[in-house]
Amino acid sequence: MTSYPHLRLRRTRALPWSRALHREVEITPADMIWPLFVTDGRDCEVPVAALPGVSRWSVDRIVDQARLAVAAGIPALALFPNTQPERRTHDGGEALNPDNLMCRAIRAIKDACGSDIGVLTDVALDPYTSHGQDGLIDDHGYVVNDDTVEVLVGQALNQAAAGADIIAPSDMMDGRVAAIRNALEDSGHIHVQIMSYAAKYASAFYGPFRDAVGSRGLLKGDKKTYQMDPGNAEEALREVELDLNEGADSVMVKPGLPYLDIIYRVKQAFGVPVFAYQVSGEYALIEAAVAAGAADRDAMVLETLTAFKRAGCSGVLTYHALHAARLLGA
Ligand code: PBG
Repeated sequence: MTSYPHLRLRRTRALPWSRALHREVEITPADMIWPLFVTDGRDCEVPVAALPGVSRWSVDRIVDQARLAVAAGIPALALFPNTQPERRTHDGGEALNPDNLMCRAIRAIKDACGSDIGVLTDVALDPYTSHGQDGLIDDHGYVVNDDTVEVLVGQALNQAAAGADIIAPSDMMDGRVAAIRNALEDSGHIHVQIMSYAAKYASAFYGPFRDAVGSRGLLKGDKKTYQMDPGNAEEALREVELDLNEGADSVMVKPGLPYLDIIYRVKQAFGVPVFAYQVSGEYALIEAAVAAGAADRDAMVLETLTAFKRAGCSGVLTYHALHAARLLGA
């Protein structure tokens, strides 16, 4: 076996051309999905205090963001509505309104950009309920599964009818992927994909997102009866297997960096397209470090995104997508 001094691993690292030649994985703009928040009104940009650099956009303005994404080579957007407070109800019925913020944003982006960009839509009731939970609750505040799934199916069909390309159930109810897939097939939406948030953890990293969609102040308690326990990995594999069997085209692990081991294991076990959501709290950590003068934003963004690719991801949902895509050059 060759050994030092014949073998010197530093040899290939010595110069930039050689490092480029030997690089195993690389993040590209085509690996990113950019989450965008939608707000009511006209010509509005409302900065999200908890996510410096991230704003909520009115439907007319979100189209410009979509065009920027296309120009930067980003293949898909993920949309989240900040539903008007007066439209949030106990049963989240606004999720079924064909003219809700989400549907209006989908239609506007599809009208402007057509097939130049994919639109991914989140399926869960939290942006629409007055209690901030992802599903319907009983008298004890417990999120009931089967009745929630029925509403989620309606929500998914509503989004598909508006032009969504990828339905992304983030609710963690049992059986929802099969129910949504069946309904999509039955209604002729055979090309609409499902990217399931298969392994979604009950995480402390979602705080800024809940500010962005306006559910933080409404949410009482937590989401631990449906989102996963951070201590569990075997269970994540079961969740993924179920969602694949139910017809998910791709699966997501969420949050991202604290769960790279899960991403790796899912990819090894199933060999399917795996996506990571580098969530709001992860974005906020990086931005806080940058603001404190403790980190170089560009280097940290690219390093974390590369880590997702190395772990096995096909792509990453990240609030840094436009910034990163521009750094990389389309
Ligand atoms: C809604 C949903 C959440 C996120 C994506 N979809 C919040 C939650 O489950 O409470 C979090 C995304 C982020 O933190 O960036 N079910």
